[in-house]
Amino acid sequence: MRRRIIAGNWKMNMTKEEAKLFVAEFLPLVESDCEIVLCVPFTDVHRVWKLTRGSSVKVGAQNVAWADKGAFTGEISAEMLKEVGAEYVIIGHSERRAYFGETDETVNMRLKQALKYGLKPIVCVGETLDQREAGKTEEVLAAQIEKGLDGVSGDVILAYEPIWAIGTGKTATPETADETIRFIRARAEKTLGETSILYGGSMNAANAQSLLDMPQIDGGLIGGASLKPKDFATIVNCR
Ligand code: PGA
Repeated sequence: MRRRIIAGNWKMNMTKEEAKLFVAEFLPLVESDCEIVLCVPFTDVHRVWKLTRGSSVKVGAQNVAWADKGAFTGEISAEMLKEVGAEYVIIGHSERRAYFGETDETVNMRLKQALKYGLKPIVCVGETLDQREAGKTEEVLAAQIEKGLDGVSGDVILAYEPIWAIGTGKTATPETADETIRFIRARAEKTLGETSILYGGSMNAANAQSLLDMPQIDGGLIGGASLKPKDFATIVNCR
C-alpha cells in the first residue's frame, strides 16, 4: 500500500542523553498523521521506544542479521530488535554496502529474516555518480531490485538513495528522483505489488516539500536533517 512515510536514519549518532533531548524537543512539533519512523543505533532503540510510546512515532533499527541466533559476532537478531521495541529496519543502506561488504545477496537474506519476524523493512537502492554518468543507473538499480527482492513478497518499503546525494548536500532534483523512482516502481511492483518508495539523499527542511510533491515519491529517508528536531519536524509536517 502506498502511503506517506518519513523515516529518520540517525546512523552512528546520538548517545542516550542526546536521544532523550531530541525526542523531548521533536514530539511536540509533530502535526502530521503520516507514518513517522526513527531508525536509531541499537543502543538507543529501547530508550526511544519508551520515550515515544503512545505517540505516532515508531522506532526502527539500521540492520538485522539473516540468522535466528548463533555464532555471528557483532550482529543483532530480529527477535532481539523486536524485544526492545523496533518495528522497522533499514536494510542494504549504501554505507553498509560500501564499508561493510553488504551485497544484494546478503540484503536479500536480511530482508527475508525481517519479514519472517514481522519487522517492516526499508530496503535501500541507489547508484554511484560514476554509474549515473556512464548511463548505467537503470542497469544498476534493476540488478539491485532483482537480486535484493528475489523470492520476497509482503510489505516492503523501498528507498531510492542515489549515493552521490547522501551526506553531500547534492540532492537529486525532484524530476530526476521522480523519474528514477518511476523506473524502480515498475520493476519492484512486479514482485511486491503496490509499494511505498521513499527518496533519500540530502533531503532537508528546505527541499523536502518539492520532493514530496512529486507523484512517485511517497516519503523520505533522512540522515543529517533527522538529527535536528526542528528540521525533521518541518519535513514530517510537509503537506
Ligand atoms: P542524508 O542521508 O540525508 O544525510 O544525505 C540519507 C541516508 O543516508 O539515509
